[in-house]
Amino acid sequence: MSTGLYKILVYGCQMNIADAERMEGQLQAAGYARTEEMTHADVILINTCCVRETAEDKVYGKIGEVKKLKERNPRLIFGIAGCMAQKEGDNLMRRAPHIDFVLGTGKVQELTRIIGEIRAEHSPVVDVTLSDQTIAENLPIARGGQFSAWVPIMYGCNNFCTYCIVPYVRGRERSRAPEEIVAEVRRAAEEGYREVTLLGQNVNSYGKDHKQADFADLLQMVDAVDGIRRVRFMTSHPKDISDKLIETIKNGAHICEHIHLPVQYGSSRILRAMNRGYTVEQYRARAQRVREMLPEASLTTDLIVGFPGETDEDFAEMLSFLREMRYDAAYTFLYSKRSGTPAAAMAEQVADEVKHARLNALMQEQNTISREINEALAGAEVEVMVEGASKNEPSVWSGRTRTNKIVLFPHGAEQAGDFVRVRITQPQTWVLKGEIVT
Ligand code: SAH
Ligand code: SF4
Ligand code: F3S
Repeated sequence: MSTGLYKILVYGCQMNIADAERMEGQLQAAGYARTEEMTHADVILINTCCVRETAEDKVYGKIGEVKKLKERNPRLIFGIAGCMAQKEGDNLMRRAPHIDFVLGTGKVQELTRIIGEIRAEHSPVVDVTLSDQTIAENLPIARGGQFSAWVPIMYGCNNFCTYCIVPYVRGRERSRAPEEIVAEVRRAAEEGYREVTLLGQNVNSYGKDHKQADFADLLQMVDAVDGIRRVRFMTSHPKDISDKLIETIKNGAHICEHIHLPVQYGSSRILRAMNRGYTVEQYRARAQRVREMLPEASLTTDLIVGFPGETDEDFAEMLSFLREMRYDAAYTFLYSKRSGTPAAAMAEQVADEVKHARLNALMQEQNTISREINEALAGAEVEVMVEGASKNEPSVWSGRTRTNKIVLFPHGAEQAGDFVRVRITQPQTWVLKGEIVT
């Protein structure tokens, strides 16, 4: 018997998607069914992100929308989970009293119990206690994808980059036991998943706490699971990427040749102020090692402009570093002040217009590079996992290469989930267009 309908909105990174899949799993186990329409839902949950102010603004907008629904349907249960819940706690309820519960990042496993409590007692609940030890295992998972599964391998972060809120809202690094991870991957493979992405804020420090396996060992174990054809992982912190790991990727049968290796900035002065734990020279040496040992691999990065104290000289260094690295793609962000982090208290915050101008310059430079790299793939044959119809053109399939590039090609006899060979005919900046090789 169904107890009602739920709608979960998810913001932020893949870790938040993975957490939301565990929330959905619990709701479904408790008899709830999913609805796409907020207006039909008996339970609305927002899994939030606070990494930048823009992420928080979006959530406040949605919280406002739900107020009207709640006025129409007082039985509607409305909860806020995730990083912003962790950061703001009961402030959220003071600001928006129509919220019924606030659930911190370490409390995913409490979801249905708390909803039950609210149904019985109608009193609001805030639980944001963050335990640095416990990892909730064996939660039911309702995965969003059909062929591709997110698998968290560790939670939290110990790095405290000076701009970043994540360590405060996700707690200290804790790694899942390797056998739990492998069991989850095995179950996913049995359910038909062909690709897994191992998730952590810094996967390269996996296992430093329990010492049962390091990240390279774990990759080998996952690589060996029957039925899994692609193993992806993110995020690799540049300070911890070992030769053993690069070697493991090279020798793996299914480990994809794509490394997301966020540099964040291209001058050592700013990297030091960011507390990233490496200089430009050290990063360059690690990236060169990757390029030597994995010449086929794609390399992507994250970049922040407008960090406090950034000068024109720093920015010029950044641009030239970008040209030198020739990343396949870069995610570029405007520095966003996060209260409570060391950088927020730094003098010399950069003016908005300057930040925007630098962001534009950076994006233009990267677009040119991405386009050149992709153009070199014209005529190449690549392995693509068919993921589904393209959003804009239903008669076109969308899939990805092992190097994580999006490929679009006209439908043939293949099905979603198939692995096919595609010849690239029209490379573009963001996608590669091609045709099936028969
Ligand atoms: N653990 C990952 C990234 C997690 S957050 C890593 O270390 O690479 C994802 C990205 O958001 C970061 O790589 C960074 O580029 C960006 N980011 C984090 N805090 C930010 C802030 N205060 N302002 C702008 N971008 C930020
Ligand atoms: Fe944030 Fe740095 Fe941790 Fe990444 S490594 S989550 S950027 S503190
Ligand atoms: Fe955002 Fe939390 Fe991820 S702050 S980026 S959802 S870890």
